[in-house]
Amino acid sequence: MSAKPVLLIVDDEAGILEVVGRFARRTGFDVLSCNGGREALATLAQTKADLALVDVRMPDIGGLDVLRAIGTLNPSCQVVLMTGYATVESAVEAVKLGARDYLAKPLNFRRLEQLLGDVREQVERRRSVLEIESELTKRLEFCGMIGRGPAMQEIFDLLGRLAPHARTALIMGETGTGKELVAHAFHRLGPRRDRRFVTVNCSAVVETLFESELFGHVRGAFTGATQNKAGLFELADGGTLFLDEIGELQAPVQAKLLRALELGEVNRIGSLQPRHVDVHVIAATNRNLPAEVAAGRFRSDLYYRLNIIHLTLPPLGARREDIPYLIAAFVKDCAGRLGKTLVGVSAAAERRLTSAAWPGNVRQLRNVIERACIMADGDLITERELTTSLDEVLTQARTLGSSSADTLTGALGDSMLLSALEREQIVRALGRTKGNKKEAARLLGLSRRALYRRLDRFALLDTVTRRRSDSLPA
Ligand SMILES: Nc1ncnc2c1ncn2[C@@H]1O[C@H](COP(=O)(O)OP(=O)(O)OP(=O)(O)O)[C@@H](O)[C@H]1O
Ligand SMILES: [Mg+2]
Repeated sequence: MSAKPVLLIVDDEAGILEVVGRFARRTGFDVLSCNGGREALATLAQTKADLALVDVRMPDIGGLDVLRAIGTLNPSCQVVLMTGYATVESAVEAVKLGARDYLAKPLNFRRLEQLLGDVREQVERRRSVLEIESELTKRLEFCGMIGRGPAMQEIFDLLGRLAPHARTALIMGETGTGKELVAHAFHRLGPRRDRRFVTVNCSAVVETLFESELFGHVRGAFTGATQNKAGLFELADGGTLFLDEIGELQAPVQAKLLRALELGEVNRIGSLQPRHVDVHVIAATNRNLPAEVAAGRFRSDLYYRLNIIHLTLPPLGARREDIPYLIAAFVKDCAGRLGKTLVGVSAAAERRLTSAAWPGNVRQLRNVIERACIMADGDLITERELTTSLDEVLTQARTLGSSSADTLTGALGDSMLLSALEREQIVRALGRTKGNKKEAARLLGLSRRALYRRLDRFALLDTVTRRRSDSLPA
């Protein structure tokens, strides 16, 4: 789009085209001249103008018809009619038809100058509003993700540039950092946006069943296989397969997955006949995959195959500048769903929310806000509504801020301190829920799986299991 506003002049008198054209250029317009109505319509079919000065009486197509045509071809273009036979009636008629104004000939150039100035100003104002708006939306929201700080901006930028070309992608990041949102964005921004997006959770299913889930089976392949069945790979043919929690994938399935990616074919279990599949694969994990590779738990060839394009989402604590915007979005969303008039959080509440530790990242923040929204009854969420839902999170933040924590940091190092605090937080949550892990996970803003992983890491599983003697998920 040209930086200058565009004026279209339509008149069968060459002299007018020339004089007005020169005048308008001096006033800062780009000028298109048309010698009659027919030429004007042809021009308008190809270019847009901001203002049109149209003579009423022309031999081929009259000014009122041009005015009507502009209304449909270029509705944001304002039209001013000109004529040597101006009457009050024809002026009224023109304005009724949508003209902005009506100029009598011979033209009063002072009035014309005023008119051009007004239109130019309007156009500039509208453009700058549009620019600011698109700038704001570009910065804040991208494919359903909120992120204002440089870390998320870079992710948005990478997504926009890589998604059109990615056949495989790997998304890493702690629990609740938005990996699933990124996976969806990859698909939506890519060439397969209109095709299927099939999600497979690699940790949800028992291993043997999982293989058949992914690759399918033929009748009689194993007990219970009473029919031929296509796997999710085949289902996603032509589209995208999202392998969530890929770090949990068992070794035999890793090998088959690699083969499917490299050869573009799968074998249903029990069948020797390979089937061709054309699938884009997006994988996500909250494990540190390079470390899993180093420990021999994840095949390096599969890792490199997936890692061609990779994104790592930073934990929320490393992008606190996003927190106020996330809060605003969550409050708005929640208030809408609950039919409440909430408009945001108090300044003190926001301070507490931006300084909390958020081990469960964005998901946890969202949960805390949702609970506070349910409790709040005024326009603002205050510290009072936050206290219960934030209790666990803030305990950690307060400990971190205290001087004893500083000494601890010196002795233990940051990551060990954080682990120690996280462990303590989990123990406390389990204490509060009397060992109920589902409740505790909710309290911590973690998914149940994420809690189990931490229990495992902190060697807490036995303690809990003994206390509650409830069974672990498969
Ligand atoms: N940038 C963001 N803007 C808005 N909402 C977000 C953002 N990131 C995450 N969320 C929200 O946080 C929640 C968790 O996101 P998501 O499920 O994508 O995380 P995840 O990384 O896949 O977590 P997990 O490893 O536990 O599966 C969702 O409700 C999601 O909508
Ligand atoms: Mg997820």
